[in-house]
Parts: sequence; structure tokens; C-alpha cells
Amino acid sequence: MCWIFGYKWVKKNAQNILLNWLRKLEYRGYDSAWIAVWNEKWDFSIVKAKWKISNLASEIENEKWDFNFWISHTRWATHWWVALENCHPHTDSKWKFTIVHNWIIENFSKLKKDLVEKWYKFYGETDTEVIAKLLEENFDWDLFITVEKVLPKLEWAFALLVMHKDFPWDIVWVKYWSPLVFWEQKWEFYFSSDIWALWGVIENVIYLEDWDLVFVKWDEFIIKSEWKLTQKPFEKIDIDLTVAEKWDFKHFMLKEIFEQPEILRRLYWWRIDWEENKLVANALQELEHLSIKKITFVACWTSYHAWLLGAYWLENFAWMDVKVEVASEFIFKNFNVSKDRLFIFISQSWETADTIEALKLVKERWWNTFWIVNVVGSTISRMTDTWMFLRAWTEVWVASTKAFTAQCWIIFLLALYFWKNKNSEKNLSHKEFLEKISDLKKIPNILEKILWDFEKIKNISKKIFKYQNFFFLWRHYQLPIAYESSLKLKEISYLHSEAYPAGELKHWPLALIDEDFISVIFAPNDSFLNQNISAMQEIKARKWKVLLISDSDEIEDFWADFTIKIPEISEDFYPFLTTIVWQLLSYEIADLLWKDIDKPRNLAKSVTVK
Ligand code: M6R
Repeated sequence: MCWIFGYKWVKKNAQNILLNWLRKLEYRGYDSAWIAVWNEKWDFSIVKAKWKISNLASEIENEKWDFNFWISHTRWATHWWVALENCHPHTDSKWKFTIVHNWIIENFSKLKKDLVEKWYKFYGETDTEVIAKLLEENFDWDLFITVEKVLPKLEWAFALLVMHKDFPWDIVWVKYWSPLVFWEQKWEFYFSSDIWALWGVIENVIYLEDWDLVFVKWDEFIIKSEWKLTQKPFEKIDIDLTVAEKWDFKHFMLKEIFEQPEILRRLYWWRIDWEENKLVANALQELEHLSIKKITFVACWTSYHAWLLGAYWLENFAWMDVKVEVASEFIFKNFNVSKDRLFIFISQSWETADTIEALKLVKERWWNTFWIVNVVGSTISRMTDTWMFLRAWTEVWVASTKAFTAQCWIIFLLALYFWKNKNSEKNLSHKEFLEKISDLKKIPNILEKILWDFEKIKNISKKIFKYQNFFFLWRHYQLPIAYESSLKLKEISYLHSEAYPAGELKHWPLALIDEDFISVIFAPNDSFLNQNISAMQEIKARKWKVLLISDSDEIEDFWADFTIKIPEISEDFYPFLTTIVWQLLSYEIADLLWKDIDKPRNLAKSVTVK
């Protein structure tokens, strides 16, 4: 989740350039950051600062560094607390090596124990410091040879940058699992964990693969792949980041919530061929060759909620056998592969370690994989057989909003595809297809209506933000949205919140509710209306507070304490409406509580460690 940036031989006084790049990558971790530059004493001048990049910016405000070789890093702490001694870069006992590391060395305790037995002293608690001491222990008077000697001792996973005081013009980059890209031109060398930082600065990159090492010596470089010399092509950076700005919104999250209607509208026109009345995606054509009857969906949290909803759609429309797996648990399972099963992965941020590992495990068994991801050129997009892009424009900060709705949208189209093509029980008729897609077309306008009514949602938020506990009791297609809404609220406001199927209320959740709770009931005007209102009455009978969301014109007659009326839509599509309502409520509640909405405590956007 940390991010590394290296920059050699370019402009002098580059601190502002690096600070800008660090700001772009701050979403990957904001526990600490630093910038370093080679100085006239052939040593690194290093400035570190805890927490946000703005702290680092004030630290270096008055520095006038006139040098050409820069590195920088933001950190999301994996080992020990956020203290300057644990911030990167780390060094050996003689202060010769300078190293930066992304991801985790899993066998670091054992390595550290061996080093301590050899009398090495440690100033901090990080796994990265262990690598520095290990390099010292194995030093062979050549930086590259030393790094090559040490790498086999490290158990995954990492991207590493290594330098040595006695070889000021050398630098080694290693990639094993953690993403890393590289660019060189006319003595300029850029390394980054993420292409986003480089976007707008350079046009092409080399995507490094696992076990790639790049050795830069003065103005030349070589790449070794699995210890053998190799050459790699430069590839064009193909990402749409033009909207990665906050505009006039108070937070990125709010801006991303407001982008949703436009994203869905574009996706609609992009994915549906109105002349032919069919779905458009090369990936879907690829699926034609496979006889798929069963699907396993794999993802991590918000993306996992999108799959939970997708499973309802696929089971209901296409009668398919669907399993939904959380990637971090799936990796421990003895999962079943059969000819008619497809494994589908979904990820917004493109670098989620658990999802990547799950994908690798399935690939190792040579099984059919398909992924849905938001960014072209990402690690996942480079690893799998068949893919489909979300094109939800880059989601910048931690709380996922527009990526979730775009995921649900694409999954809905996927469900229609399977309904039409793979289901022998009850095929999708052309009439039904047209009905579904014309309903889908209405959604962006309806979402806009909800957004225009933001003031009403603000007013409700003012009434409920002082409650400490929230309980979401929803059912059917809405259950995954209850999980997601509950997550959104707690992720940015840190309030206690839980979500359960409304039908389970009497089985135990009633025992928990008391006067400090707001129970949120979603009761659309559909076949479940009476059951949902009964659940509400059971809570009201105990004099506890209820927030009711419904499209029913009788909403005020149900005697809820607080109500939100949403527009009418057919039941398949309520999830889009309730999602956006709770995104707005969660945002507003967190804002009223003065939380740092775009940077929730302890989190980072890309979860690149396991
Ligand atoms: O980028 P991914 O979709 O793979 O991310 C998965 C989760 O880490 C992510 O959805 C996380 O739960 C969000 N911060 C929730 O808002």
C-alpha cells in the first residue's frame, strides 16, 4: 500500500515536482512520507514527516536542494507504529545502504532472529530494516551482486529500491509481486509503484514482471528477468485520469458520488448496441466459446458486495449456480474446478493483493478466468484471459462509490448476457431484454433527481448523526446494498453499524437494538412491502427509532421517525437508488462529525499487502 517513486538525473530543485507526484499517490498510504536527494557529500539528505504529505511539504519548504537524484515514498504502516524511526528509507549499521520497500517480508522475524544472533542491532521494528541489515551481512563489494545474493532469502512479496553510499550512481530495483513500472530516456530514469504518478509526465513505461531486476549504473540500465538478461518493450500508458481532480467539491468522495449518473449513462451507450439490440463487449464474444453453467465470483469487500448482488441477479434471471467468495478466504480453500465453471474477479483499484493471489491460484490450475477492472494496464488486467473494463474514471480516495455502482451496472449486463445465452431453463426473450434495458436507461436521470434533493438528505443527516449505532434490515436484492451501506457509514464515520436480512430480526438482532440505535428499513412498494412494514412495527413497538426509505406514496402513514422517499423504479433497479441515498447520508453524517472523509483512519485505497 506504500508507494515508491524514484527519479534520477532530471531537473534540479525537483522537490515541488516530487511533492506533486507524492500528492497524486497519497491515496496509497498516508502514515508517513519522505523525500531524499543525493547531496554534495555523496550522501542522502533525507526529510521525513509523519502523516500527510502537507506535513512533509512544510518540512522542506525552505530547502534549496540543487541536485539531480531524487527518491520519495509514502507509507502505510505494516510493521510497528507510525514513528519516524519506522519510516522509510531504512539503512544498515554502517549507514551505507539506503533501501525502500513496498509490501511485506513474511519471514522477517526468522531473518531478524538470525541477524540478532550475529550481533546486529536494530533501531526500529520494520521488516524493511531487516533487508538493510541482510544486505550488509551479505555485502560483496558490488551493489548488484549483493542484491542478487540476498533476494532468494526473502519470502515474498515486495518491490525494492536499493542504493549504497559507495556507489552513488548505482541503483537497483526489484519487483516481486508488488507493482512497479520503469521509464528511461536520455539519462532520465523514473520508477514508480503506480503509473498514475507518471501520467502526464511521460507517455510510455516498461511494466516489470515478478522477479525482474533493473540495474541502473550512471546513464545505462539493464533488466534481468529471473536472473537472465532480458529486454522489455516500452508500452503506452493508456489510462483516463483526466477527471482525477476535485473541482469545487468539498471532498473527492462527494465529487465521485455526483459523477455516477454520467458514468452510468456513458456505460449504457458504450455497452448496448441499439441498432442490433444487444450487449457489446469483446469479452462476451470470448465467453461464447465456453460452455459455462457455474460461476465463482471473487473479490474484496465493496467489490464483493457487488458480486453478492450479481449472484441474486444471475440466480434469478439465468438460473445459474453461483458462488461468491471473499478473495482473502478463497485462497485457503480447496476450490472446485470443473469444465463448466468460470471464475470471475472484480477489482476497482487494480492492485488488490488478495484478489491477485486468488487469481494466480486459479491460473495455476489452468482454469477459465475473467475479470472486471477499472484501469487499463493494471496488474490484474495483465494477468488474465478475458476482461471487461468498468471505465468508471479513476476513483481516487478510499471509500468506493462510483466504482461500486459501475460494477453493479456491468454485472447486471453480464446477468442479462448469461440469461440470454447460457440458460436452458428459460431464455431471455427479445421483449424482456428491451424492457430491462429501457428501465436501465432511466436510472441515471433518477439518480440525478436524488442528487438534486441532497438538501433533504442533509436535513435527515442532521437529525440522526448523533446516534451511535445503525442497524440496516433489508432483504432480497437490497441485502447486499444494506451490507455496502453499512460499510460506507462505518468506513468514514467510524460509527457502529450492522446489516442483517430483515427476516432475521426476530432470530436475534432485536436483542441488540435499544434507544441508541437507528434501525434503517427499506420498504419499497413491492411484494415485500407488508413484511418490511411488519419488521418496522416490531421495532417501533419497543419505542426504538426507525428511518424508513420507500417509494410508497403512503410512506408518511407508516409512522416511522424519519423518512426518505425515493422515486419509483422496477424492483431489479432499487439497488442503484438506495446505494446513492446511503452514500450521501454516510458522507453527510461523517462530515457533520468532522471526520477526514477522503482519508479514513488506518486505510489506503489500494490494499497491496495481504
Ligand atoms: O480495488 P478493489 O475493488 O479490489 O478493492 C476492494 C476493497 O479493498 C475495497 O472495496 C474497500 O472495501 C473499499 N475501501 C470500500 O469502500
